[in-house]
Amino acid sequence: MIAGAMGVLFGAILSTSVQAAAMSKDAIAERLKPVGDVCLQGQDCGGAAPAPAAGGAKSPADLYASACAACHNTGAAGAPKKGDAAAWAPRIKQGKDTLYNHAMNGFNAMPARGGNPSLSDDNIKSIVDYIVENSK
Ligand code: HEC
Repeated sequence: MIAGAMGVLFGAILSTSVQAAAMSKDAIAERLKPVGDVCLQGQDCGGAAPAPAAGGAKSPADLYASACAACHNTGAAGAPKKGDAAAWAPRIKQGKDTLYNHAMNGFNAMPARGGNPSLSDDNIKSIVDYIVENSK
């Protein structure tokens, strides 16, 4: 009798844990789905490679995130933070050409091209435009 009762008990535990495993699998699938959607919108996916935009060109926001955000989101090394209008106003006053020039060739603690020589002049200009547009 005792063995029979144990069997029922174990059966109940077993089916419960199988159910739990099935549920967590669904839950994981549910959680993965929205992450894929967010990446397609070109947002920061927490380190996952964002899907390239049509034509394989990365958006200025993507380039900024990979090459410039480490300093310009945090203020590291005294970098003016993106979105900090007070920090950017006097820099914007110098004119775009000066900003482009400093971003390409470096300026004090600002490394040339953010330390990414593979970024083209057009890449740099588009990123500077992106920073300026979001820091007024
Ligand atoms: C290692 C940190 C670091 C990285 C990476 C970095 N910057 Fe900077 N950036 C700085 C610092 C520090 C300054 C402020 C320099 C100063 O005013 O003395 C600055 C200033 C600038 C300025 C203003 C220049 C001016 O004339 O006032 C621009 C524009 C700029 N960065 C663009 C970029 C772009 C575009 C990238 C990515 C391609 C980038 N930065 C990556 C640190 C960084």
